[in-house]
Amino acid sequence: MSTASIDRALAVLVVAMATTGLLSLRAGHPEQGWLFVVHGLLAGALALTVAVKISRSVPRALSGRSVARLALGLVVSLFAVAALSGGYLWVASGELIWIDAGGAGLGRWTILTLHAWAGLILVPLVIVHVLPRRWRLLRPGRDTLARVGDRAFTRRALLGAGAMAIAGVAMWAIAGIIERAVGGVRRFTGSRWLAAGGVPIPTTFFGEPTPAIDLATWSLTVEGAVDRRTNHDLASLQALGEVESTAVLDCTSGWAIETAWRGVPLSAVLDEAVVAPAARRIEVRSVTGWGTSLDIADARRCVLAWSVAGRALPAANGAPLRLIAPDRRGLDWVKWVDTIRVE
Ligand code: HEM
Repeated sequence: MSTASIDRALAVLVVAMATTGLLSLRAGHPEQGWLFVVHGLLAGALALTVAVKISRSVPRALSGRSVARLALGLVVSLFAVAALSGGYLWVASGELIWIDAGGAGLGRWTILTLHAWAGLILVPLVIVHVLPRRWRLLRPGRDTLARVGDRAFTRRALLGAGAMAIAGVAMWAIAGIIERAVGGVRRFTGSRWLAAGGVPIPTTFFGEPTPAIDLATWSLTVEGAVDRRTNHDLASLQALGEVESTAVLDCTSGWAIETAWRGVPLSAVLDEAVVAPAARRIEVRSVTGWGTSLDIADARRCVLAWSVAGRALPAANGAPLRLIAPDRRGLDWVKWVDTIRVE
Protein backbone atom coordinates (compact mmCIF):
# COMPACT_ATOMS: atom_id res chain seq x y z
CA MET A 1 0.00 0.00 0.00
CA SER A 2 1.17 3.56 -0.67
CA THR A 3 2.11 5.81 2.24
CA ALA A 4 -0.97 7.95 1.50
CA SER A 5 -3.26 4.91 1.67
CA ILE A 6 -1.71 3.85 4.98
CA ASP A 7 -2.28 7.33 6.43
CA ARG A 8 -5.88 7.29 5.24
CA ALA A 9 -6.50 3.81 6.65
CA LEU A 10 -4.92 4.85 9.95
CA ALA A 11 -7.14 7.93 10.28
CA VAL A 12 -10.33 6.09 9.28
CA LEU A 13 -9.65 3.10 11.57
CA VAL A 14 -8.77 5.21 14.62
CA VAL A 15 -11.94 7.31 14.20
CA ALA A 16 -14.01 4.13 13.65
CA MET A 17 -12.53 2.48 16.77
CA ALA A 18 -13.22 5.55 18.91
CA THR A 19 -16.76 5.85 17.49
CA THR A 20 -17.69 2.18 18.01
CA GLY A 21 -16.07 2.34 21.47
CA LEU A 22 -18.09 5.41 22.46
CA LEU A 23 -21.31 3.93 21.07
CA SER A 24 -20.65 0.79 23.12
CA LEU A 25 -21.05 2.84 26.31
CA ARG A 26 -24.80 2.94 25.69
CA ALA A 27 -25.15 -0.57 24.25
CA GLY A 28 -26.58 -2.80 26.98
CA HIS A 29 -29.05 -4.96 25.03
CA PRO A 30 -27.84 -8.30 23.58
CA GLU A 31 -29.17 -7.16 20.17
CA GLN A 32 -26.40 -4.55 20.19
CA GLY A 33 -23.70 -7.23 20.57
CA TRP A 34 -22.60 -6.76 16.92
CA LEU A 35 -21.11 -3.36 17.86
CA PHE A 36 -18.54 -5.05 20.14
CA VAL A 37 -17.69 -7.58 17.42
CA VAL A 38 -17.14 -4.76 14.88
CA HIS A 39 -14.90 -2.96 17.42
CA GLY A 40 -12.87 -6.17 17.92
CA LEU A 41 -12.54 -6.84 14.16
CA LEU A 42 -11.45 -3.27 13.37
CA ALA A 43 -8.79 -3.53 16.09
CA GLY A 44 -6.83 -6.20 14.18
CA ALA A 45 -6.95 -4.13 10.97
CA LEU A 46 -5.64 -1.15 12.95
CA ALA A 47 -2.89 -3.26 14.57
CA LEU A 48 -1.64 -4.29 11.12
CA THR A 49 -1.82 -0.71 9.79
CA VAL A 50 0.09 0.65 12.82
CA ALA A 51 2.79 -2.03 12.39
CA VAL A 52 3.23 -1.20 8.68
CA LYS A 53 3.18 2.54 9.39
CA ILE A 54 5.87 2.27 12.09
CA SER A 55 8.11 0.00 9.99
CA ARG A 56 7.98 2.47 7.09
CA SER A 57 8.11 5.84 8.82
CA VAL A 58 10.81 5.27 11.43
CA PRO A 59 13.68 4.72 8.91
CA ARG A 60 12.41 7.64 6.79
CA ALA A 61 12.15 10.04 9.77
CA LEU A 62 15.59 8.94 11.04
CA SER A 63 17.29 9.44 7.68
CA GLY A 64 15.54 12.81 7.21
CA ARG A 65 16.56 13.82 10.74
CA SER A 66 13.11 15.27 11.20
CA VAL A 67 13.08 15.47 15.01
CA ALA A 68 9.62 17.06 15.29
CA ARG A 69 7.98 14.47 13.02
CA LEU A 70 9.83 11.66 14.75
CA ALA A 71 8.65 12.90 18.17
CA LEU A 72 5.02 13.25 17.07
CA GLY A 73 5.16 9.86 15.35
CA LEU A 74 6.55 8.33 18.52
CA VAL A 75 3.73 9.77 20.67
CA VAL A 76 1.09 8.58 18.16
CA SER A 77 2.66 5.09 18.12
CA LEU A 78 2.79 4.97 21.93
CA PHE A 79 -0.92 5.75 22.28
CA ALA A 80 -1.87 3.39 19.45
CA VAL A 81 0.12 0.54 21.02
CA ALA A 82 -1.30 1.37 24.48
CA ALA A 83 -4.92 1.34 23.22
CA LEU A 84 -4.41 -1.87 21.24
CA SER A 85 -2.44 -3.78 23.85
CA GLY A 86 -4.81 -2.63 26.63
CA GLY A 87 -7.80 -3.96 24.62
CA TYR A 88 -6.14 -7.29 23.81
CA LEU A 89 -4.84 -7.69 27.35
CA TRP A 90 -8.37 -7.15 28.63
CA VAL A 91 -9.70 -9.95 26.46
CA ALA A 92 -6.80 -12.44 26.51
CA SER A 93 -6.00 -12.18 30.25
CA GLY A 94 -9.46 -13.57 31.04
CA GLU A 95 -9.48 -11.40 34.16
CA LEU A 96 -10.83 -8.16 35.56
CA ILE A 97 -7.53 -6.25 35.76
CA TRP A 98 -7.38 -3.10 37.92
CA ILE A 99 -4.58 -0.53 38.02
CA ASP A 100 -4.53 1.17 41.40
CA ALA A 101 -3.17 4.70 41.23
CA GLY A 102 -4.96 5.69 44.44
CA GLY A 103 -1.63 6.52 46.09
CA ALA A 104 -1.01 9.20 43.45
CA GLY A 105 -4.58 10.49 43.95
CA LEU A 106 -5.64 9.14 40.53
CA GLY A 107 -8.04 6.43 41.75
CA ARG A 108 -8.48 2.84 40.62
CA TRP A 109 -9.13 2.06 36.96
CA THR A 110 -9.58 -1.09 34.91
CA ILE A 111 -7.36 -1.82 31.90
CA LEU A 112 -10.52 -1.51 29.79
CA THR A 113 -11.09 2.10 30.88
CA LEU A 114 -7.41 3.00 30.42
CA HIS A 115 -7.33 1.52 26.88
CA ALA A 116 -10.44 3.59 26.03
CA TRP A 117 -8.78 6.82 27.25
CA ALA A 118 -5.63 6.00 25.26
CA GLY A 119 -7.85 5.43 22.19
CA LEU A 120 -9.70 8.71 22.64
CA ILE A 121 -6.44 10.68 23.04
CA LEU A 122 -5.20 8.99 19.87
CA VAL A 123 -7.93 10.59 17.72
CA PRO A 124 -6.65 14.22 17.82
CA LEU A 125 -3.03 12.97 17.71
CA VAL A 126 -3.61 11.04 14.50
CA ILE A 127 -5.47 13.98 12.95
CA VAL A 128 -2.60 16.38 13.76
CA HIS A 129 -0.07 13.80 12.51
CA VAL A 130 -1.80 12.97 9.24
CA LEU A 131 -3.56 16.15 8.15
CA PRO A 132 -0.64 18.46 7.26
CA ARG A 133 0.28 16.09 4.43
CA ARG A 134 -3.20 14.87 3.60
CA TRP A 135 -5.26 18.03 4.01
CA ARG A 136 -6.78 17.56 0.55
CA LEU A 137 -8.79 14.70 2.04
CA LEU A 138 -10.94 17.31 3.73
CA ARG A 139 -11.46 19.38 0.57
CA PRO A 140 -11.54 16.81 -2.19
CA GLY A 141 -11.87 18.32 -5.67
CA ARG A 142 -13.48 16.41 -8.53
CA ASP A 143 -10.01 15.20 -9.66
CA THR A 144 -9.16 13.84 -6.22
CA LEU A 145 -12.42 11.91 -5.98
CA ALA A 146 -11.94 10.47 -9.47
CA ARG A 147 -8.37 9.43 -8.61
CA VAL A 148 -9.44 7.84 -5.32
CA GLY A 149 -12.19 5.99 -7.23
CA ASP A 150 -9.64 4.71 -9.79
CA ARG A 151 -7.22 3.55 -7.13
CA ALA A 152 -9.73 2.01 -4.77
CA PHE A 153 -9.96 -1.20 -6.79
CA THR A 154 -6.37 -1.70 -7.89
CA ARG A 155 -4.76 -5.05 -7.10
CA ARG A 156 -2.56 -3.39 -4.46
CA ALA A 157 -5.52 -1.72 -2.72
CA LEU A 158 -7.53 -4.94 -2.68
CA LEU A 159 -4.56 -6.92 -1.33
CA GLY A 160 -4.13 -4.29 1.42
CA ALA A 161 -7.83 -4.44 2.34
CA GLY A 162 -7.71 -8.26 2.32
CA ALA A 163 -4.68 -8.29 4.64
CA MET A 164 -6.49 -5.95 7.03
CA ALA A 165 -9.61 -8.12 7.02
CA ILE A 166 -7.53 -11.24 7.74
CA ALA A 167 -5.64 -9.44 10.53
CA GLY A 168 -8.98 -8.27 12.00
CA VAL A 169 -10.50 -11.74 12.14
CA ALA A 170 -7.25 -13.47 13.19
CA MET A 171 -6.41 -11.14 16.13
CA TRP A 172 -10.02 -11.17 17.34
CA ALA A 173 -10.17 -14.98 17.19
CA ILE A 174 -6.73 -15.50 18.81
CA ALA A 175 -7.53 -13.15 21.73
CA GLY A 176 -10.82 -15.02 22.28
CA ILE A 177 -9.15 -18.45 22.10
CA ILE A 178 -6.48 -17.43 24.65
CA GLU A 179 -9.20 -16.05 26.92
CA ARG A 180 -11.14 -19.31 26.86
CA ALA A 181 -7.93 -21.30 27.41
CA VAL A 182 -7.23 -19.38 30.65
CA GLY A 183 -10.86 -19.82 31.74
CA GLY A 184 -12.08 -16.24 31.18
CA VAL A 185 -15.76 -15.45 30.58
CA ARG A 186 -17.03 -12.12 29.24
CA ARG A 187 -20.50 -10.72 28.69
CA PHE A 188 -21.24 -9.61 25.12
CA THR A 189 -20.25 -6.10 26.29
CA GLY A 190 -16.75 -7.29 27.23
CA SER A 191 -17.59 -7.00 30.95
CA ARG A 192 -16.51 -9.69 33.42
CA TRP A 193 -18.99 -11.23 35.86
CA LEU A 194 -18.78 -10.54 39.60
CA ALA A 195 -20.36 -13.07 41.99
CA ALA A 196 -24.15 -12.81 41.67
CA GLY A 197 -26.34 -11.51 44.48
CA GLY A 198 -24.02 -8.99 46.13
CA VAL A 199 -23.85 -5.21 46.44
CA PRO A 200 -22.19 -3.72 43.32
CA ILE A 201 -18.85 -1.90 43.46
CA PRO A 202 -19.74 1.79 43.90
CA THR A 203 -18.35 3.69 40.91
CA THR A 204 -19.14 6.95 39.13
CA PHE A 205 -18.32 7.74 35.49
CA PHE A 206 -15.68 10.42 36.15
CA GLY A 207 -14.90 9.33 39.73
CA GLU A 208 -17.26 11.97 41.19
CA PRO A 209 -17.72 11.72 45.00
CA THR A 210 -20.92 10.60 46.76
CA PRO A 211 -23.09 13.68 47.42
CA ALA A 212 -24.33 14.41 50.97
CA ILE A 213 -28.13 14.09 50.89
CA ASP A 214 -30.33 15.08 53.84
CA LEU A 215 -33.38 12.75 53.81
CA ALA A 216 -35.36 15.37 55.75
CA THR A 217 -35.23 17.76 52.78
CA TRP A 218 -34.77 15.31 49.85
CA SER A 219 -37.77 14.59 47.60
CA LEU A 220 -38.52 13.16 44.17
CA THR A 221 -40.22 15.66 41.86
CA VAL A 222 -42.21 14.46 38.82
CA GLU A 223 -42.82 17.35 36.43
CA GLY A 224 -43.25 18.32 32.78
CA ALA A 225 -45.99 16.78 30.60
CA VAL A 226 -48.06 15.45 33.52
CA ASP A 227 -51.53 16.34 34.84
CA ARG A 228 -50.31 16.39 38.44
CA ARG A 229 -46.82 17.64 39.33
CA THR A 230 -45.91 15.42 42.28
CA ASN A 231 -43.39 15.53 45.10
CA HIS A 232 -42.60 12.29 46.93
CA ASP A 233 -40.60 11.53 50.03
CA LEU A 234 -39.41 7.95 50.57
CA ALA A 235 -42.50 7.02 52.61
CA SER A 236 -44.95 8.19 49.94
CA LEU A 237 -42.98 6.29 47.26
CA GLN A 238 -43.10 3.14 49.42
CA ALA A 239 -46.86 3.60 49.73
CA LEU A 240 -47.14 3.23 45.92
CA GLY A 241 -46.01 -0.41 46.25
CA GLU A 242 -42.74 -2.35 46.39
CA VAL A 243 -41.45 -4.87 43.85
CA GLU A 244 -38.26 -6.92 43.51
CA SER A 245 -36.35 -6.80 40.24
CA THR A 246 -33.37 -9.04 39.47
CA ALA A 247 -31.31 -7.22 36.86
CA VAL A 248 -27.76 -7.06 35.50
CA LEU A 249 -25.81 -3.91 36.31
CA ASP A 250 -23.12 -3.75 33.58
CA CYS A 251 -20.57 -1.05 34.39
CA THR A 252 -18.72 0.52 31.45
CA SER A 253 -15.47 0.07 33.37
CA GLY A 254 -15.78 -3.65 32.60
CA TRP A 255 -17.67 -5.64 35.23
CA ALA A 256 -21.24 -6.91 35.50
CA ILE A 257 -23.29 -8.22 38.41
CA GLU A 258 -26.73 -9.81 38.57
CA THR A 259 -28.43 -8.91 41.80
CA ALA A 260 -31.85 -8.19 43.34
CA TRP A 261 -33.14 -4.63 43.78
CA ARG A 262 -36.29 -3.57 45.64
CA GLY A 263 -38.19 -0.39 45.00
CA VAL A 264 -41.20 1.16 43.31
CA PRO A 265 -41.97 0.51 39.63
CA LEU A 266 -41.32 3.70 37.69
CA SER A 267 -44.65 3.09 35.91
CA ALA A 268 -46.47 3.50 39.27
CA VAL A 269 -44.77 6.87 39.83
CA LEU A 270 -45.66 7.98 36.27
CA ASP A 271 -49.28 6.81 36.62
CA GLU A 272 -49.63 8.70 39.89
CA ALA A 273 -48.61 11.91 38.08
CA VAL A 274 -50.83 11.06 35.04
CA VAL A 275 -48.58 11.34 31.99
CA ALA A 276 -49.97 13.38 29.05
CA PRO A 277 -50.95 11.10 26.10
CA ALA A 278 -48.59 13.03 23.79
CA ALA A 279 -45.54 12.48 26.05
CA ARG A 280 -42.76 10.40 24.47
CA ARG A 281 -39.71 10.49 26.75
CA ILE A 282 -38.69 10.96 30.35
CA GLU A 283 -35.54 12.47 31.74
CA VAL A 284 -34.28 10.99 35.04
CA ARG A 285 -31.95 13.37 36.90
CA SER A 286 -29.63 13.02 39.87
CA VAL A 287 -28.91 15.65 42.54
CA THR A 288 -25.40 15.72 40.97
CA GLY A 289 -26.75 16.80 37.54
CA TRP A 290 -26.06 13.37 35.96
CA GLY A 291 -29.06 11.96 34.10
CA THR A 292 -30.48 9.82 31.35
CA SER A 293 -33.31 9.97 28.84
CA LEU A 294 -35.62 7.00 28.22
CA ASP A 295 -38.61 6.48 25.97
CA ILE A 296 -41.80 5.93 27.93
CA ALA A 297 -42.08 2.22 27.04
CA ASP A 298 -38.52 1.59 28.29
CA ALA A 299 -39.14 3.69 31.39
CA ARG A 300 -42.13 1.53 32.30
CA ARG A 301 -39.76 -1.49 32.69
CA CYS A 302 -37.60 0.41 35.22
CA VAL A 303 -37.66 0.46 39.01
CA LEU A 304 -36.66 3.23 41.44
CA ALA A 305 -34.78 1.24 44.09
CA TRP A 306 -34.06 1.86 47.78
CA SER A 307 -32.68 -1.60 48.51
CA VAL A 308 -30.09 -3.94 46.98
CA ALA A 309 -29.22 -7.57 47.79
CA GLY A 310 -31.59 -7.57 50.77
CA ARG A 311 -30.21 -4.48 52.51
CA ALA A 312 -30.82 -0.74 52.46
CA LEU A 313 -29.17 0.89 49.45
CA PRO A 314 -25.77 2.28 50.54
CA ALA A 315 -25.20 6.01 49.90
CA ALA A 316 -22.37 5.28 47.44
CA ASN A 317 -24.71 3.01 45.46
CA GLY A 318 -27.26 5.79 45.00
CA ALA A 319 -29.39 6.12 48.20
CA PRO A 320 -32.00 7.27 48.74
CA LEU A 321 -33.16 6.35 45.20
CA ARG A 322 -31.48 4.73 42.20
CA LEU A 323 -32.80 3.97 38.72
CA ILE A 324 -32.70 0.28 37.76
CA ALA A 325 -32.73 0.21 33.95
CA PRO A 326 -32.65 -3.38 32.56
CA ASP A 327 -30.67 -3.89 29.31
CA ARG A 328 -28.87 -0.56 29.70
CA ARG A 329 -25.26 0.08 30.71
CA GLY A 330 -24.45 1.28 34.22
CA LEU A 331 -24.12 4.92 33.24
CA ASP A 332 -27.89 5.01 32.65
CA TRP A 333 -28.62 3.60 36.13
CA VAL A 334 -28.82 7.10 37.59
CA LYS A 335 -27.95 7.33 41.29
CA TRP A 336 -29.30 9.84 43.83
CA VAL A 337 -32.41 10.52 41.69
CA ASP A 338 -34.39 13.63 42.62
CA THR A 339 -36.18 14.68 39.40
CA ILE A 340 -38.21 12.99 36.68
CA ARG A 341 -39.15 15.23 33.79
CA VAL A 342 -41.76 13.96 31.34
CA GLU A 343 -41.43 15.34 27.77
C1 HEM B 1 -8.35 3.93 18.86
C2 HEM B 1 -9.14 3.59 19.85
C3 HEM B 1 -9.29 2.18 20.38
C4 HEM B 1 -8.54 1.04 20.16
C5 HEM B 1 -7.31 0.90 19.30
C6 HEM B 1 -9.17 -0.04 20.88
C7 HEM B 1 -8.70 -1.35 20.91
C8 HEM B 1 -9.38 -2.41 21.44
C9 HEM B 1 -8.98 -3.79 21.36
C10 HEM B 1 -7.73 -4.31 20.69
C11 HEM B 1 -9.93 -4.53 22.00
C12 HEM B 1 -9.98 -6.06 22.13
C13 HEM B 1 -10.81 -6.57 20.96
C14 HEM B 1 -11.11 -8.07 20.98
O1 HEM B 1 -10.19 -8.86 20.79
O2 HEM B 1 -12.30 -8.43 21.17
C15 HEM B 1 -10.92 -3.62 22.49
C16 HEM B 1 -12.04 -4.00 23.21
C17 HEM B 1 -12.93 -3.12 23.74
N1 HEM B 1 -12.93 -1.75 23.62
FE1 HEM B 1 -11.61 -0.65 22.57
N2 HEM B 1 -10.27 0.46 21.53
C18 HEM B 1 -10.37 1.81 21.26
C19 HEM B 1 -11.30 2.68 21.75
C20 HEM B 1 -12.30 2.35 22.64
C21 HEM B 1 -13.17 3.27 23.28
C22 HEM B 1 -13.12 4.80 23.10
C23 HEM B 1 -14.02 2.53 24.06
C24 HEM B 1 -15.11 2.98 24.99
C25 HEM B 1 -15.25 4.23 25.40
C26 HEM B 1 -13.69 1.14 23.88
C27 HEM B 1 -14.35 0.08 24.47
C28 HEM B 1 -14.01 -1.24 24.30
C29 HEM B 1 -14.74 -2.35 24.88
C30 HEM B 1 -16.02 -2.26 25.73
C31 HEM B 1 -14.07 -3.52 24.52
C32 HEM B 1 -14.43 -4.96 24.92
C33 HEM B 1 -15.17 -5.57 23.78
C34 HEM B 1 -15.23 -7.06 23.91
O3 HEM B 1 -14.74 -7.60 24.88
O4 HEM B 1 -15.79 -7.71 23.01
N3 HEM B 1 -12.62 1.07 23.02
N4 HEM B 1 -10.58 -2.33 22.15
